[in-house]
Amino acid sequence: MCSVEMELLPLLCLCLLSVSGTTFADGNKRPVIMVKEGKDATLPCSFPEKRKEPFRWMKEGQELVYKYHETGSPDQDPQFLGRVSHFSSELKKGNASIIIRNTKLSDSGHYTCEFPYIRQTFSIQLLVERVVIMVKEGSEATLPCSIRGISGKQSFRWIKDGLKLYDYQTTSQVSQLHGRVIHFESEVKKGNASIIIKNTKLSDSGHYTCEFPYIRQTFNIQLLVERVVIMVKEGSEATLPCYIGGISRKQPFRWMKDGQESVYEWDDTNSLHQGPQFFGRVSHSDSELKKGNASIILKNTKLSDSGHYTCTFSQQTFNMQLLVGDISKVSIRALNQTKNMAVLQCEVEADFLKPRIEWEDSDGNILPAEEPHITRIKSHYSITVQVVVTKTNNYHCVAEQEEISHEMKAETYVFVLDELDEWRSPPSWREILIICAFGCLLIGLLCCKKCCRRGSGANSRAAEAVPLRGRNPGGI
Ligand SMILES: *[C@@H]1O[C@H](CO)[C@@H](O)[C@H](O)[C@H]1NC(C)=O
Ligand SMILES: *[C@@H]1O[C@H](CO)[C@@H](O)[C@H](O)[C@H]1NC(C)=O
Ligand SMILES: *[C@@H]1O[C@H](CO)[C@@H](O)[C@H](O)[C@H]1NC(C)=O
Ligand SMILES: *[C@@H]1O[C@H](CO)[C@@H](O)[C@H](O)[C@H]1NC(C)=O
Repeated sequence: MCSVEMELLPLLCLCLLSVSGTTFADGNKRPVIMVKEGKDATLPCSFPEKRKEPFRWMKEGQELVYKYHETGSPDQDPQFLGRVSHFSSELKKGNASIIIRNTKLSDSGHYTCEFPYIRQTFSIQLLVERVVIMVKEGSEATLPCSIRGISGKQSFRWIKDGLKLYDYQTTSQVSQLHGRVIHFESEVKKGNASIIIKNTKLSDSGHYTCEFPYIRQTFNIQLLVERVVIMVKEGSEATLPCYIGGISRKQPFRWMKDGQESVYEWDDTNSLHQGPQFFGRVSHSDSELKKGNASIILKNTKLSDSGHYTCTFSQQTFNMQLLVGDISKVSIRALNQTKNMAVLQCEVEADFLKPRIEWEDSDGNILPAEEPHITRIKSHYSITVQVVVTKTNNYHCVAEQEEISHEMKAETYVFVLDELDEWRSPPSWREILIICAFGCLLIGLLCCKKCCRRGSGANSRAAEAVPLRGRNPGGI
């Protein structure tokens, strides 16, 4: 960056490096500023000396973002009109930082701060991220939208995926919302056009735009409504939530499974109806019901209870999914064993929740295993994971349904010869041959020695025998 200028102004460059480490970027390591869409971004830049100095900011080297006291340069790019300013009180300190208001996704990019008289530029990366709001189906979502420095009511409207959703002037909302959207009347005069969507549906997910038409300001938000999923281990208890609140009298409610099967119903005549599949296993709380809470508790859950549940309560419906998980089998099979290694296969059977499977040694170290092989039939998982082991140890295969902290394991003992063992126990053929050869040589040598000795001994014995023989006849 300093290449040419460095030769001309070596001291200045050095000075810059030490004074403003954050604004000075060398090569590809330029500083990154991250902001949420709609928020303000301050892009820092400083002149090396504490004095007022003309400067300009460019985006991608060609679009003029902002200029201060500079003549003969092109006009500000329209996308930045009225949104950018410098800090006038900071100018005399050589501070050429700017602020970009109400940032847009398209503002993301590479910015340069330039001091034309010293031909010096500084780089910065701006990253504007979409505002994403995530809520669970059935709960409330607040979509924020506000402008500052506004006095008096500003008209606003909300648009979803290109279609008008809510208009402040007419307080009209599209039928799909059925009165589920409210704004904050007391906040409107402060420029706050935030809305709340009550009892959110999966279909409320999408791209929302808040518009102030008279001052031409827009804000974007992504809403993501996620299905409520309740996960429990087979045999345990599940609470299925259904809450509206804000009432003081018991109201009838009805729970259904998969759209048709009756689970639990309570009506005005105080009569209770339980579906045959659920008989004696479901309950609600009367005191909670008075507060607008029609949640139920399902005891002794079965795998077959898994499914899609709806609660209809006070003209509203709440949707959720129940998953009753279990691991029914974990076993280990030795596929192949040689004297130096073994191939082990772990076999797992599980329902509704895919388990995470890990091979561990006796110290709990996780072993690098093959990719799991997964077969899924409806909600039943059959998974195998192979591992190659080369050491004698106790090996475990651990399967866990993390969502419900349900774990099951199997273990096996494997004996293999590792390199050290090879020296301690059974020798190799080569070693046997060498030992044999040595042995033979030794025996040979000993034999030879003995033979030689026997040779001379025989002679002496023979010599001794001679007189014996000679004596014998003499003795006879
Ligand atoms: C320049 O001014 C801005 C805005 O007041 C401030 O945030 C920044 O820290 C200043 N930079 C320096 C180097 O003083
Ligand atoms: C706008 O109003 C809502 C509801 O009162 C509040 O939660 C939010 O903080 C307000 N936003 C601003 C920027 O004041
Ligand atoms: C509703 O009642 C259930 C028990 O019946 C309870 O677990 C839950 O916390 C209650 N919900 C609210 C929002 O009060
Ligand atoms: C066992 O391993 C050997 C050597 O890697 C291989 O030739 C053989 O096919 C394997 N046997 C099985 C059943 O996988």
